[in-house]
Amino acid sequence: MPDIFKVDGAKCVKCGLCVQDCAFRALRMESDGPRMAFPDKCMKCQHCLAVCPAGAVAFDGRRPEDCIPVRDAPVPGLDEAEGWLRTRRSMRRFAPQDADRATLERILSALGNSPTGCNARSLTFTCLPSRESMDRFRRDFISAIERHRDGPKLLPRWLAIPALRLRKGEEDVFFRGATGMLVVSSDDKAPGVTTPREDVTIACAHFELLANAAGIATCWCGFLRMVQQEVPELLEETLGLRRDAPFYAMLFGLPAVKYARGVKRDSYARVEFR
Ligand SMILES: Cc1cc2nc3c(=O)[nH]c(=O)nc-3n(C[C@H](O)[C@H](O)[C@H](O)COP(=O)(O)O)c2cc1C
Repeated sequence: MPDIFKVDGAKCVKCGLCVQDCAFRALRMESDGPRMAFPDKCMKCQHCLAVCPAGAVAFDGRRPEDCIPVRDAPVPGLDEAEGWLRTRRSMRRFAPQDADRATLERILSALGNSPTGCNARSLTFTCLPSRESMDRFRRDFISAIERHRDGPKLLPRWLAIPALRLRKGEEDVFFRGATGMLVVSSDDKAPGVTTPREDVTIACAHFELLANAAGIATCWCGFLRMVQQEVPELLEETLGLRRDAPFYAMLFGLPAVKYARGVKRDSYARVEFR
């Protein structure tokens, strides 16, 4: 750990920005420049590497040359970000074609940058990228529910009836006919994880944003969580996830609906300035 923070003495101007920006005060300015004084406090957020104006800091083997220059990263302005929020919709009808695999890989790679509490970064992105993989999952999902149904506990009607309709191919209430699904889960037992549920939800929200930006429509899949609560072995059996791991799921695919307008819902949230 001591070598995780490296300073190029020839470049460092001893401005102290890395020390000031270290949230947990792991760095200290010494006469010959900044040093990692308290490695146990370091949460590997890489603010020191990001903030250094001289490009003198390398962190965990990552050098300034490996980073993205801020001026080269296009960031949506308020008009674009607000326009997206005002017009985004949950898609519940998907086109038959799969979303582009390379685009999905790019989005999932970028999604690793979603913030996590104390920078714990213990998320897993389990992606079913195609109709084929989704249909396999649907079959496994029904089988898991039916095995559970044959056990001692009765299934509630909201679950039993849609599951039967899905088995008969009549209606897919749970997954809306989506051609893809992303399950974001947190290893909440890993050291340093403080906000597993929030980490999962934030990553899902960012997936929605990135996918929509790429023309891939999404829908939050609250049903999967509801079913998991009734059938605790479900995600273990179907996707190999730990049965009590915090997770949330996003359905996705190419849109089959084009919305003509954004509706106004601003007044639904109460805004208070104090
Ligand atoms: C946490 C969460 C869970 C949701 N679960 C489902 C779901 O299981 N199935 C579904 O069709 N829509 C689901 N939705 C979508 C909401 O019904 C939808 O966001 C809401 O009706 C507003 O519509 P909009 O997303 O198009 O603005 C969920 C949304 C959220 C935020």
